[in-house]
Amino acid sequence: MRMKKKKHGPERLKLLSGLVCDDIKALYENKEAIYKNDNPLRIEIGCGKGDFVCGKSLKEPEYNYLAIEKIADVCTLAVENYAQGRGLGGLAPNGGWQKPNGTVYSLGEVVDFTGDDLGNVRFMVGDAKELLVNLPDNSCEAIYVNFCDPWSKKGHTKRRLTYIEFLKMYSRLLTPEGRFYFKTDNRPLFDFSLEEVERSPLELEYHTYDLHNSEMDKDNIRTEYERNFSEKGFSINMLIAKNNK
Ligand SMILES: C[S@@+](CC[C@H](N)C(=O)[O-])C[C@H]1O[C@@H](n2cnc3c(N)ncnc32)[C@H](O)[C@@H]1O
Repeated sequence: MRMKKKKHGPERLKLLSGLVCDDIKALYENKEAIYKNDNPLRIEIGCGKGDFVCGKSLKEPEYNYLAIEKIADVCTLAVENYAQGRGLGGLAPNGGWQKPNGTVYSLGEVVDFTGDDLGNVRFMVGDAKELLVNLPDNSCEAIYVNFCDPWSKKGHTKRRLTYIEFLKMYSRLLTPEGRFYFKTDNRPLFDFSLEEVERSPLELEYHTYDLHNSEMDKDNIRTEYERNFSEKGFSINMLIAKNNK
């Protein structure tokens, strides 16, 4: 995702750091204290501005969610989007954050969310490839990748989030009943991903080349990229692969 560097990006993220995790191992080990329940964990990789995780976490609140985004400024927008949607306040005229009770926090401060319901999503800035190696086997029940970079250039195949080595890692992280969900507008990437699933420890359970005209669309949560590509006339591909280890 291309984005002009945000003014005060780091301070804006710091304001909402109660919703942001900076140590994935600690998050996992303390997840009951952090989420205030022991519901199963779901992970979204490359959450962008957070539309999917915000919608999914409201629609299916019986899970906890970790949304990973490698670009800090993009993650900031996702966290703000989530906090606003959960009634935790909004951007203040001073560029800081205003809680629903009117308290205004300035850039450089941290919003005191004590007593507030932070809901079932936490965010993390970083490269999923580096972060996820720190989680134990069977640690999550679903992994979502939506509209990831196609890495179309020759020689970049291994960077795709559906490359076999990623799928092996997803299988390790997923519970035996867990599932990997993938959506893209990019047909060559989708065909590649189907082949990678075929040679991975995951088993293809469902796929469609036209999600929006399929029976799965009723439960589908459209992401920002999904809306953009769909409006331009691209059909959306989706696959679900279940763990088979
Ligand atoms: C094309 S955007 C799609 C955003 C969103 N998922 C959507 O569908 O609207 C892909 C996002 O994934 C992020 N991303 C790509 N590779 C990543 C990785 N290895 N770890 C974390 N985030 C990643 C990018 O920074 C970008 O924001």
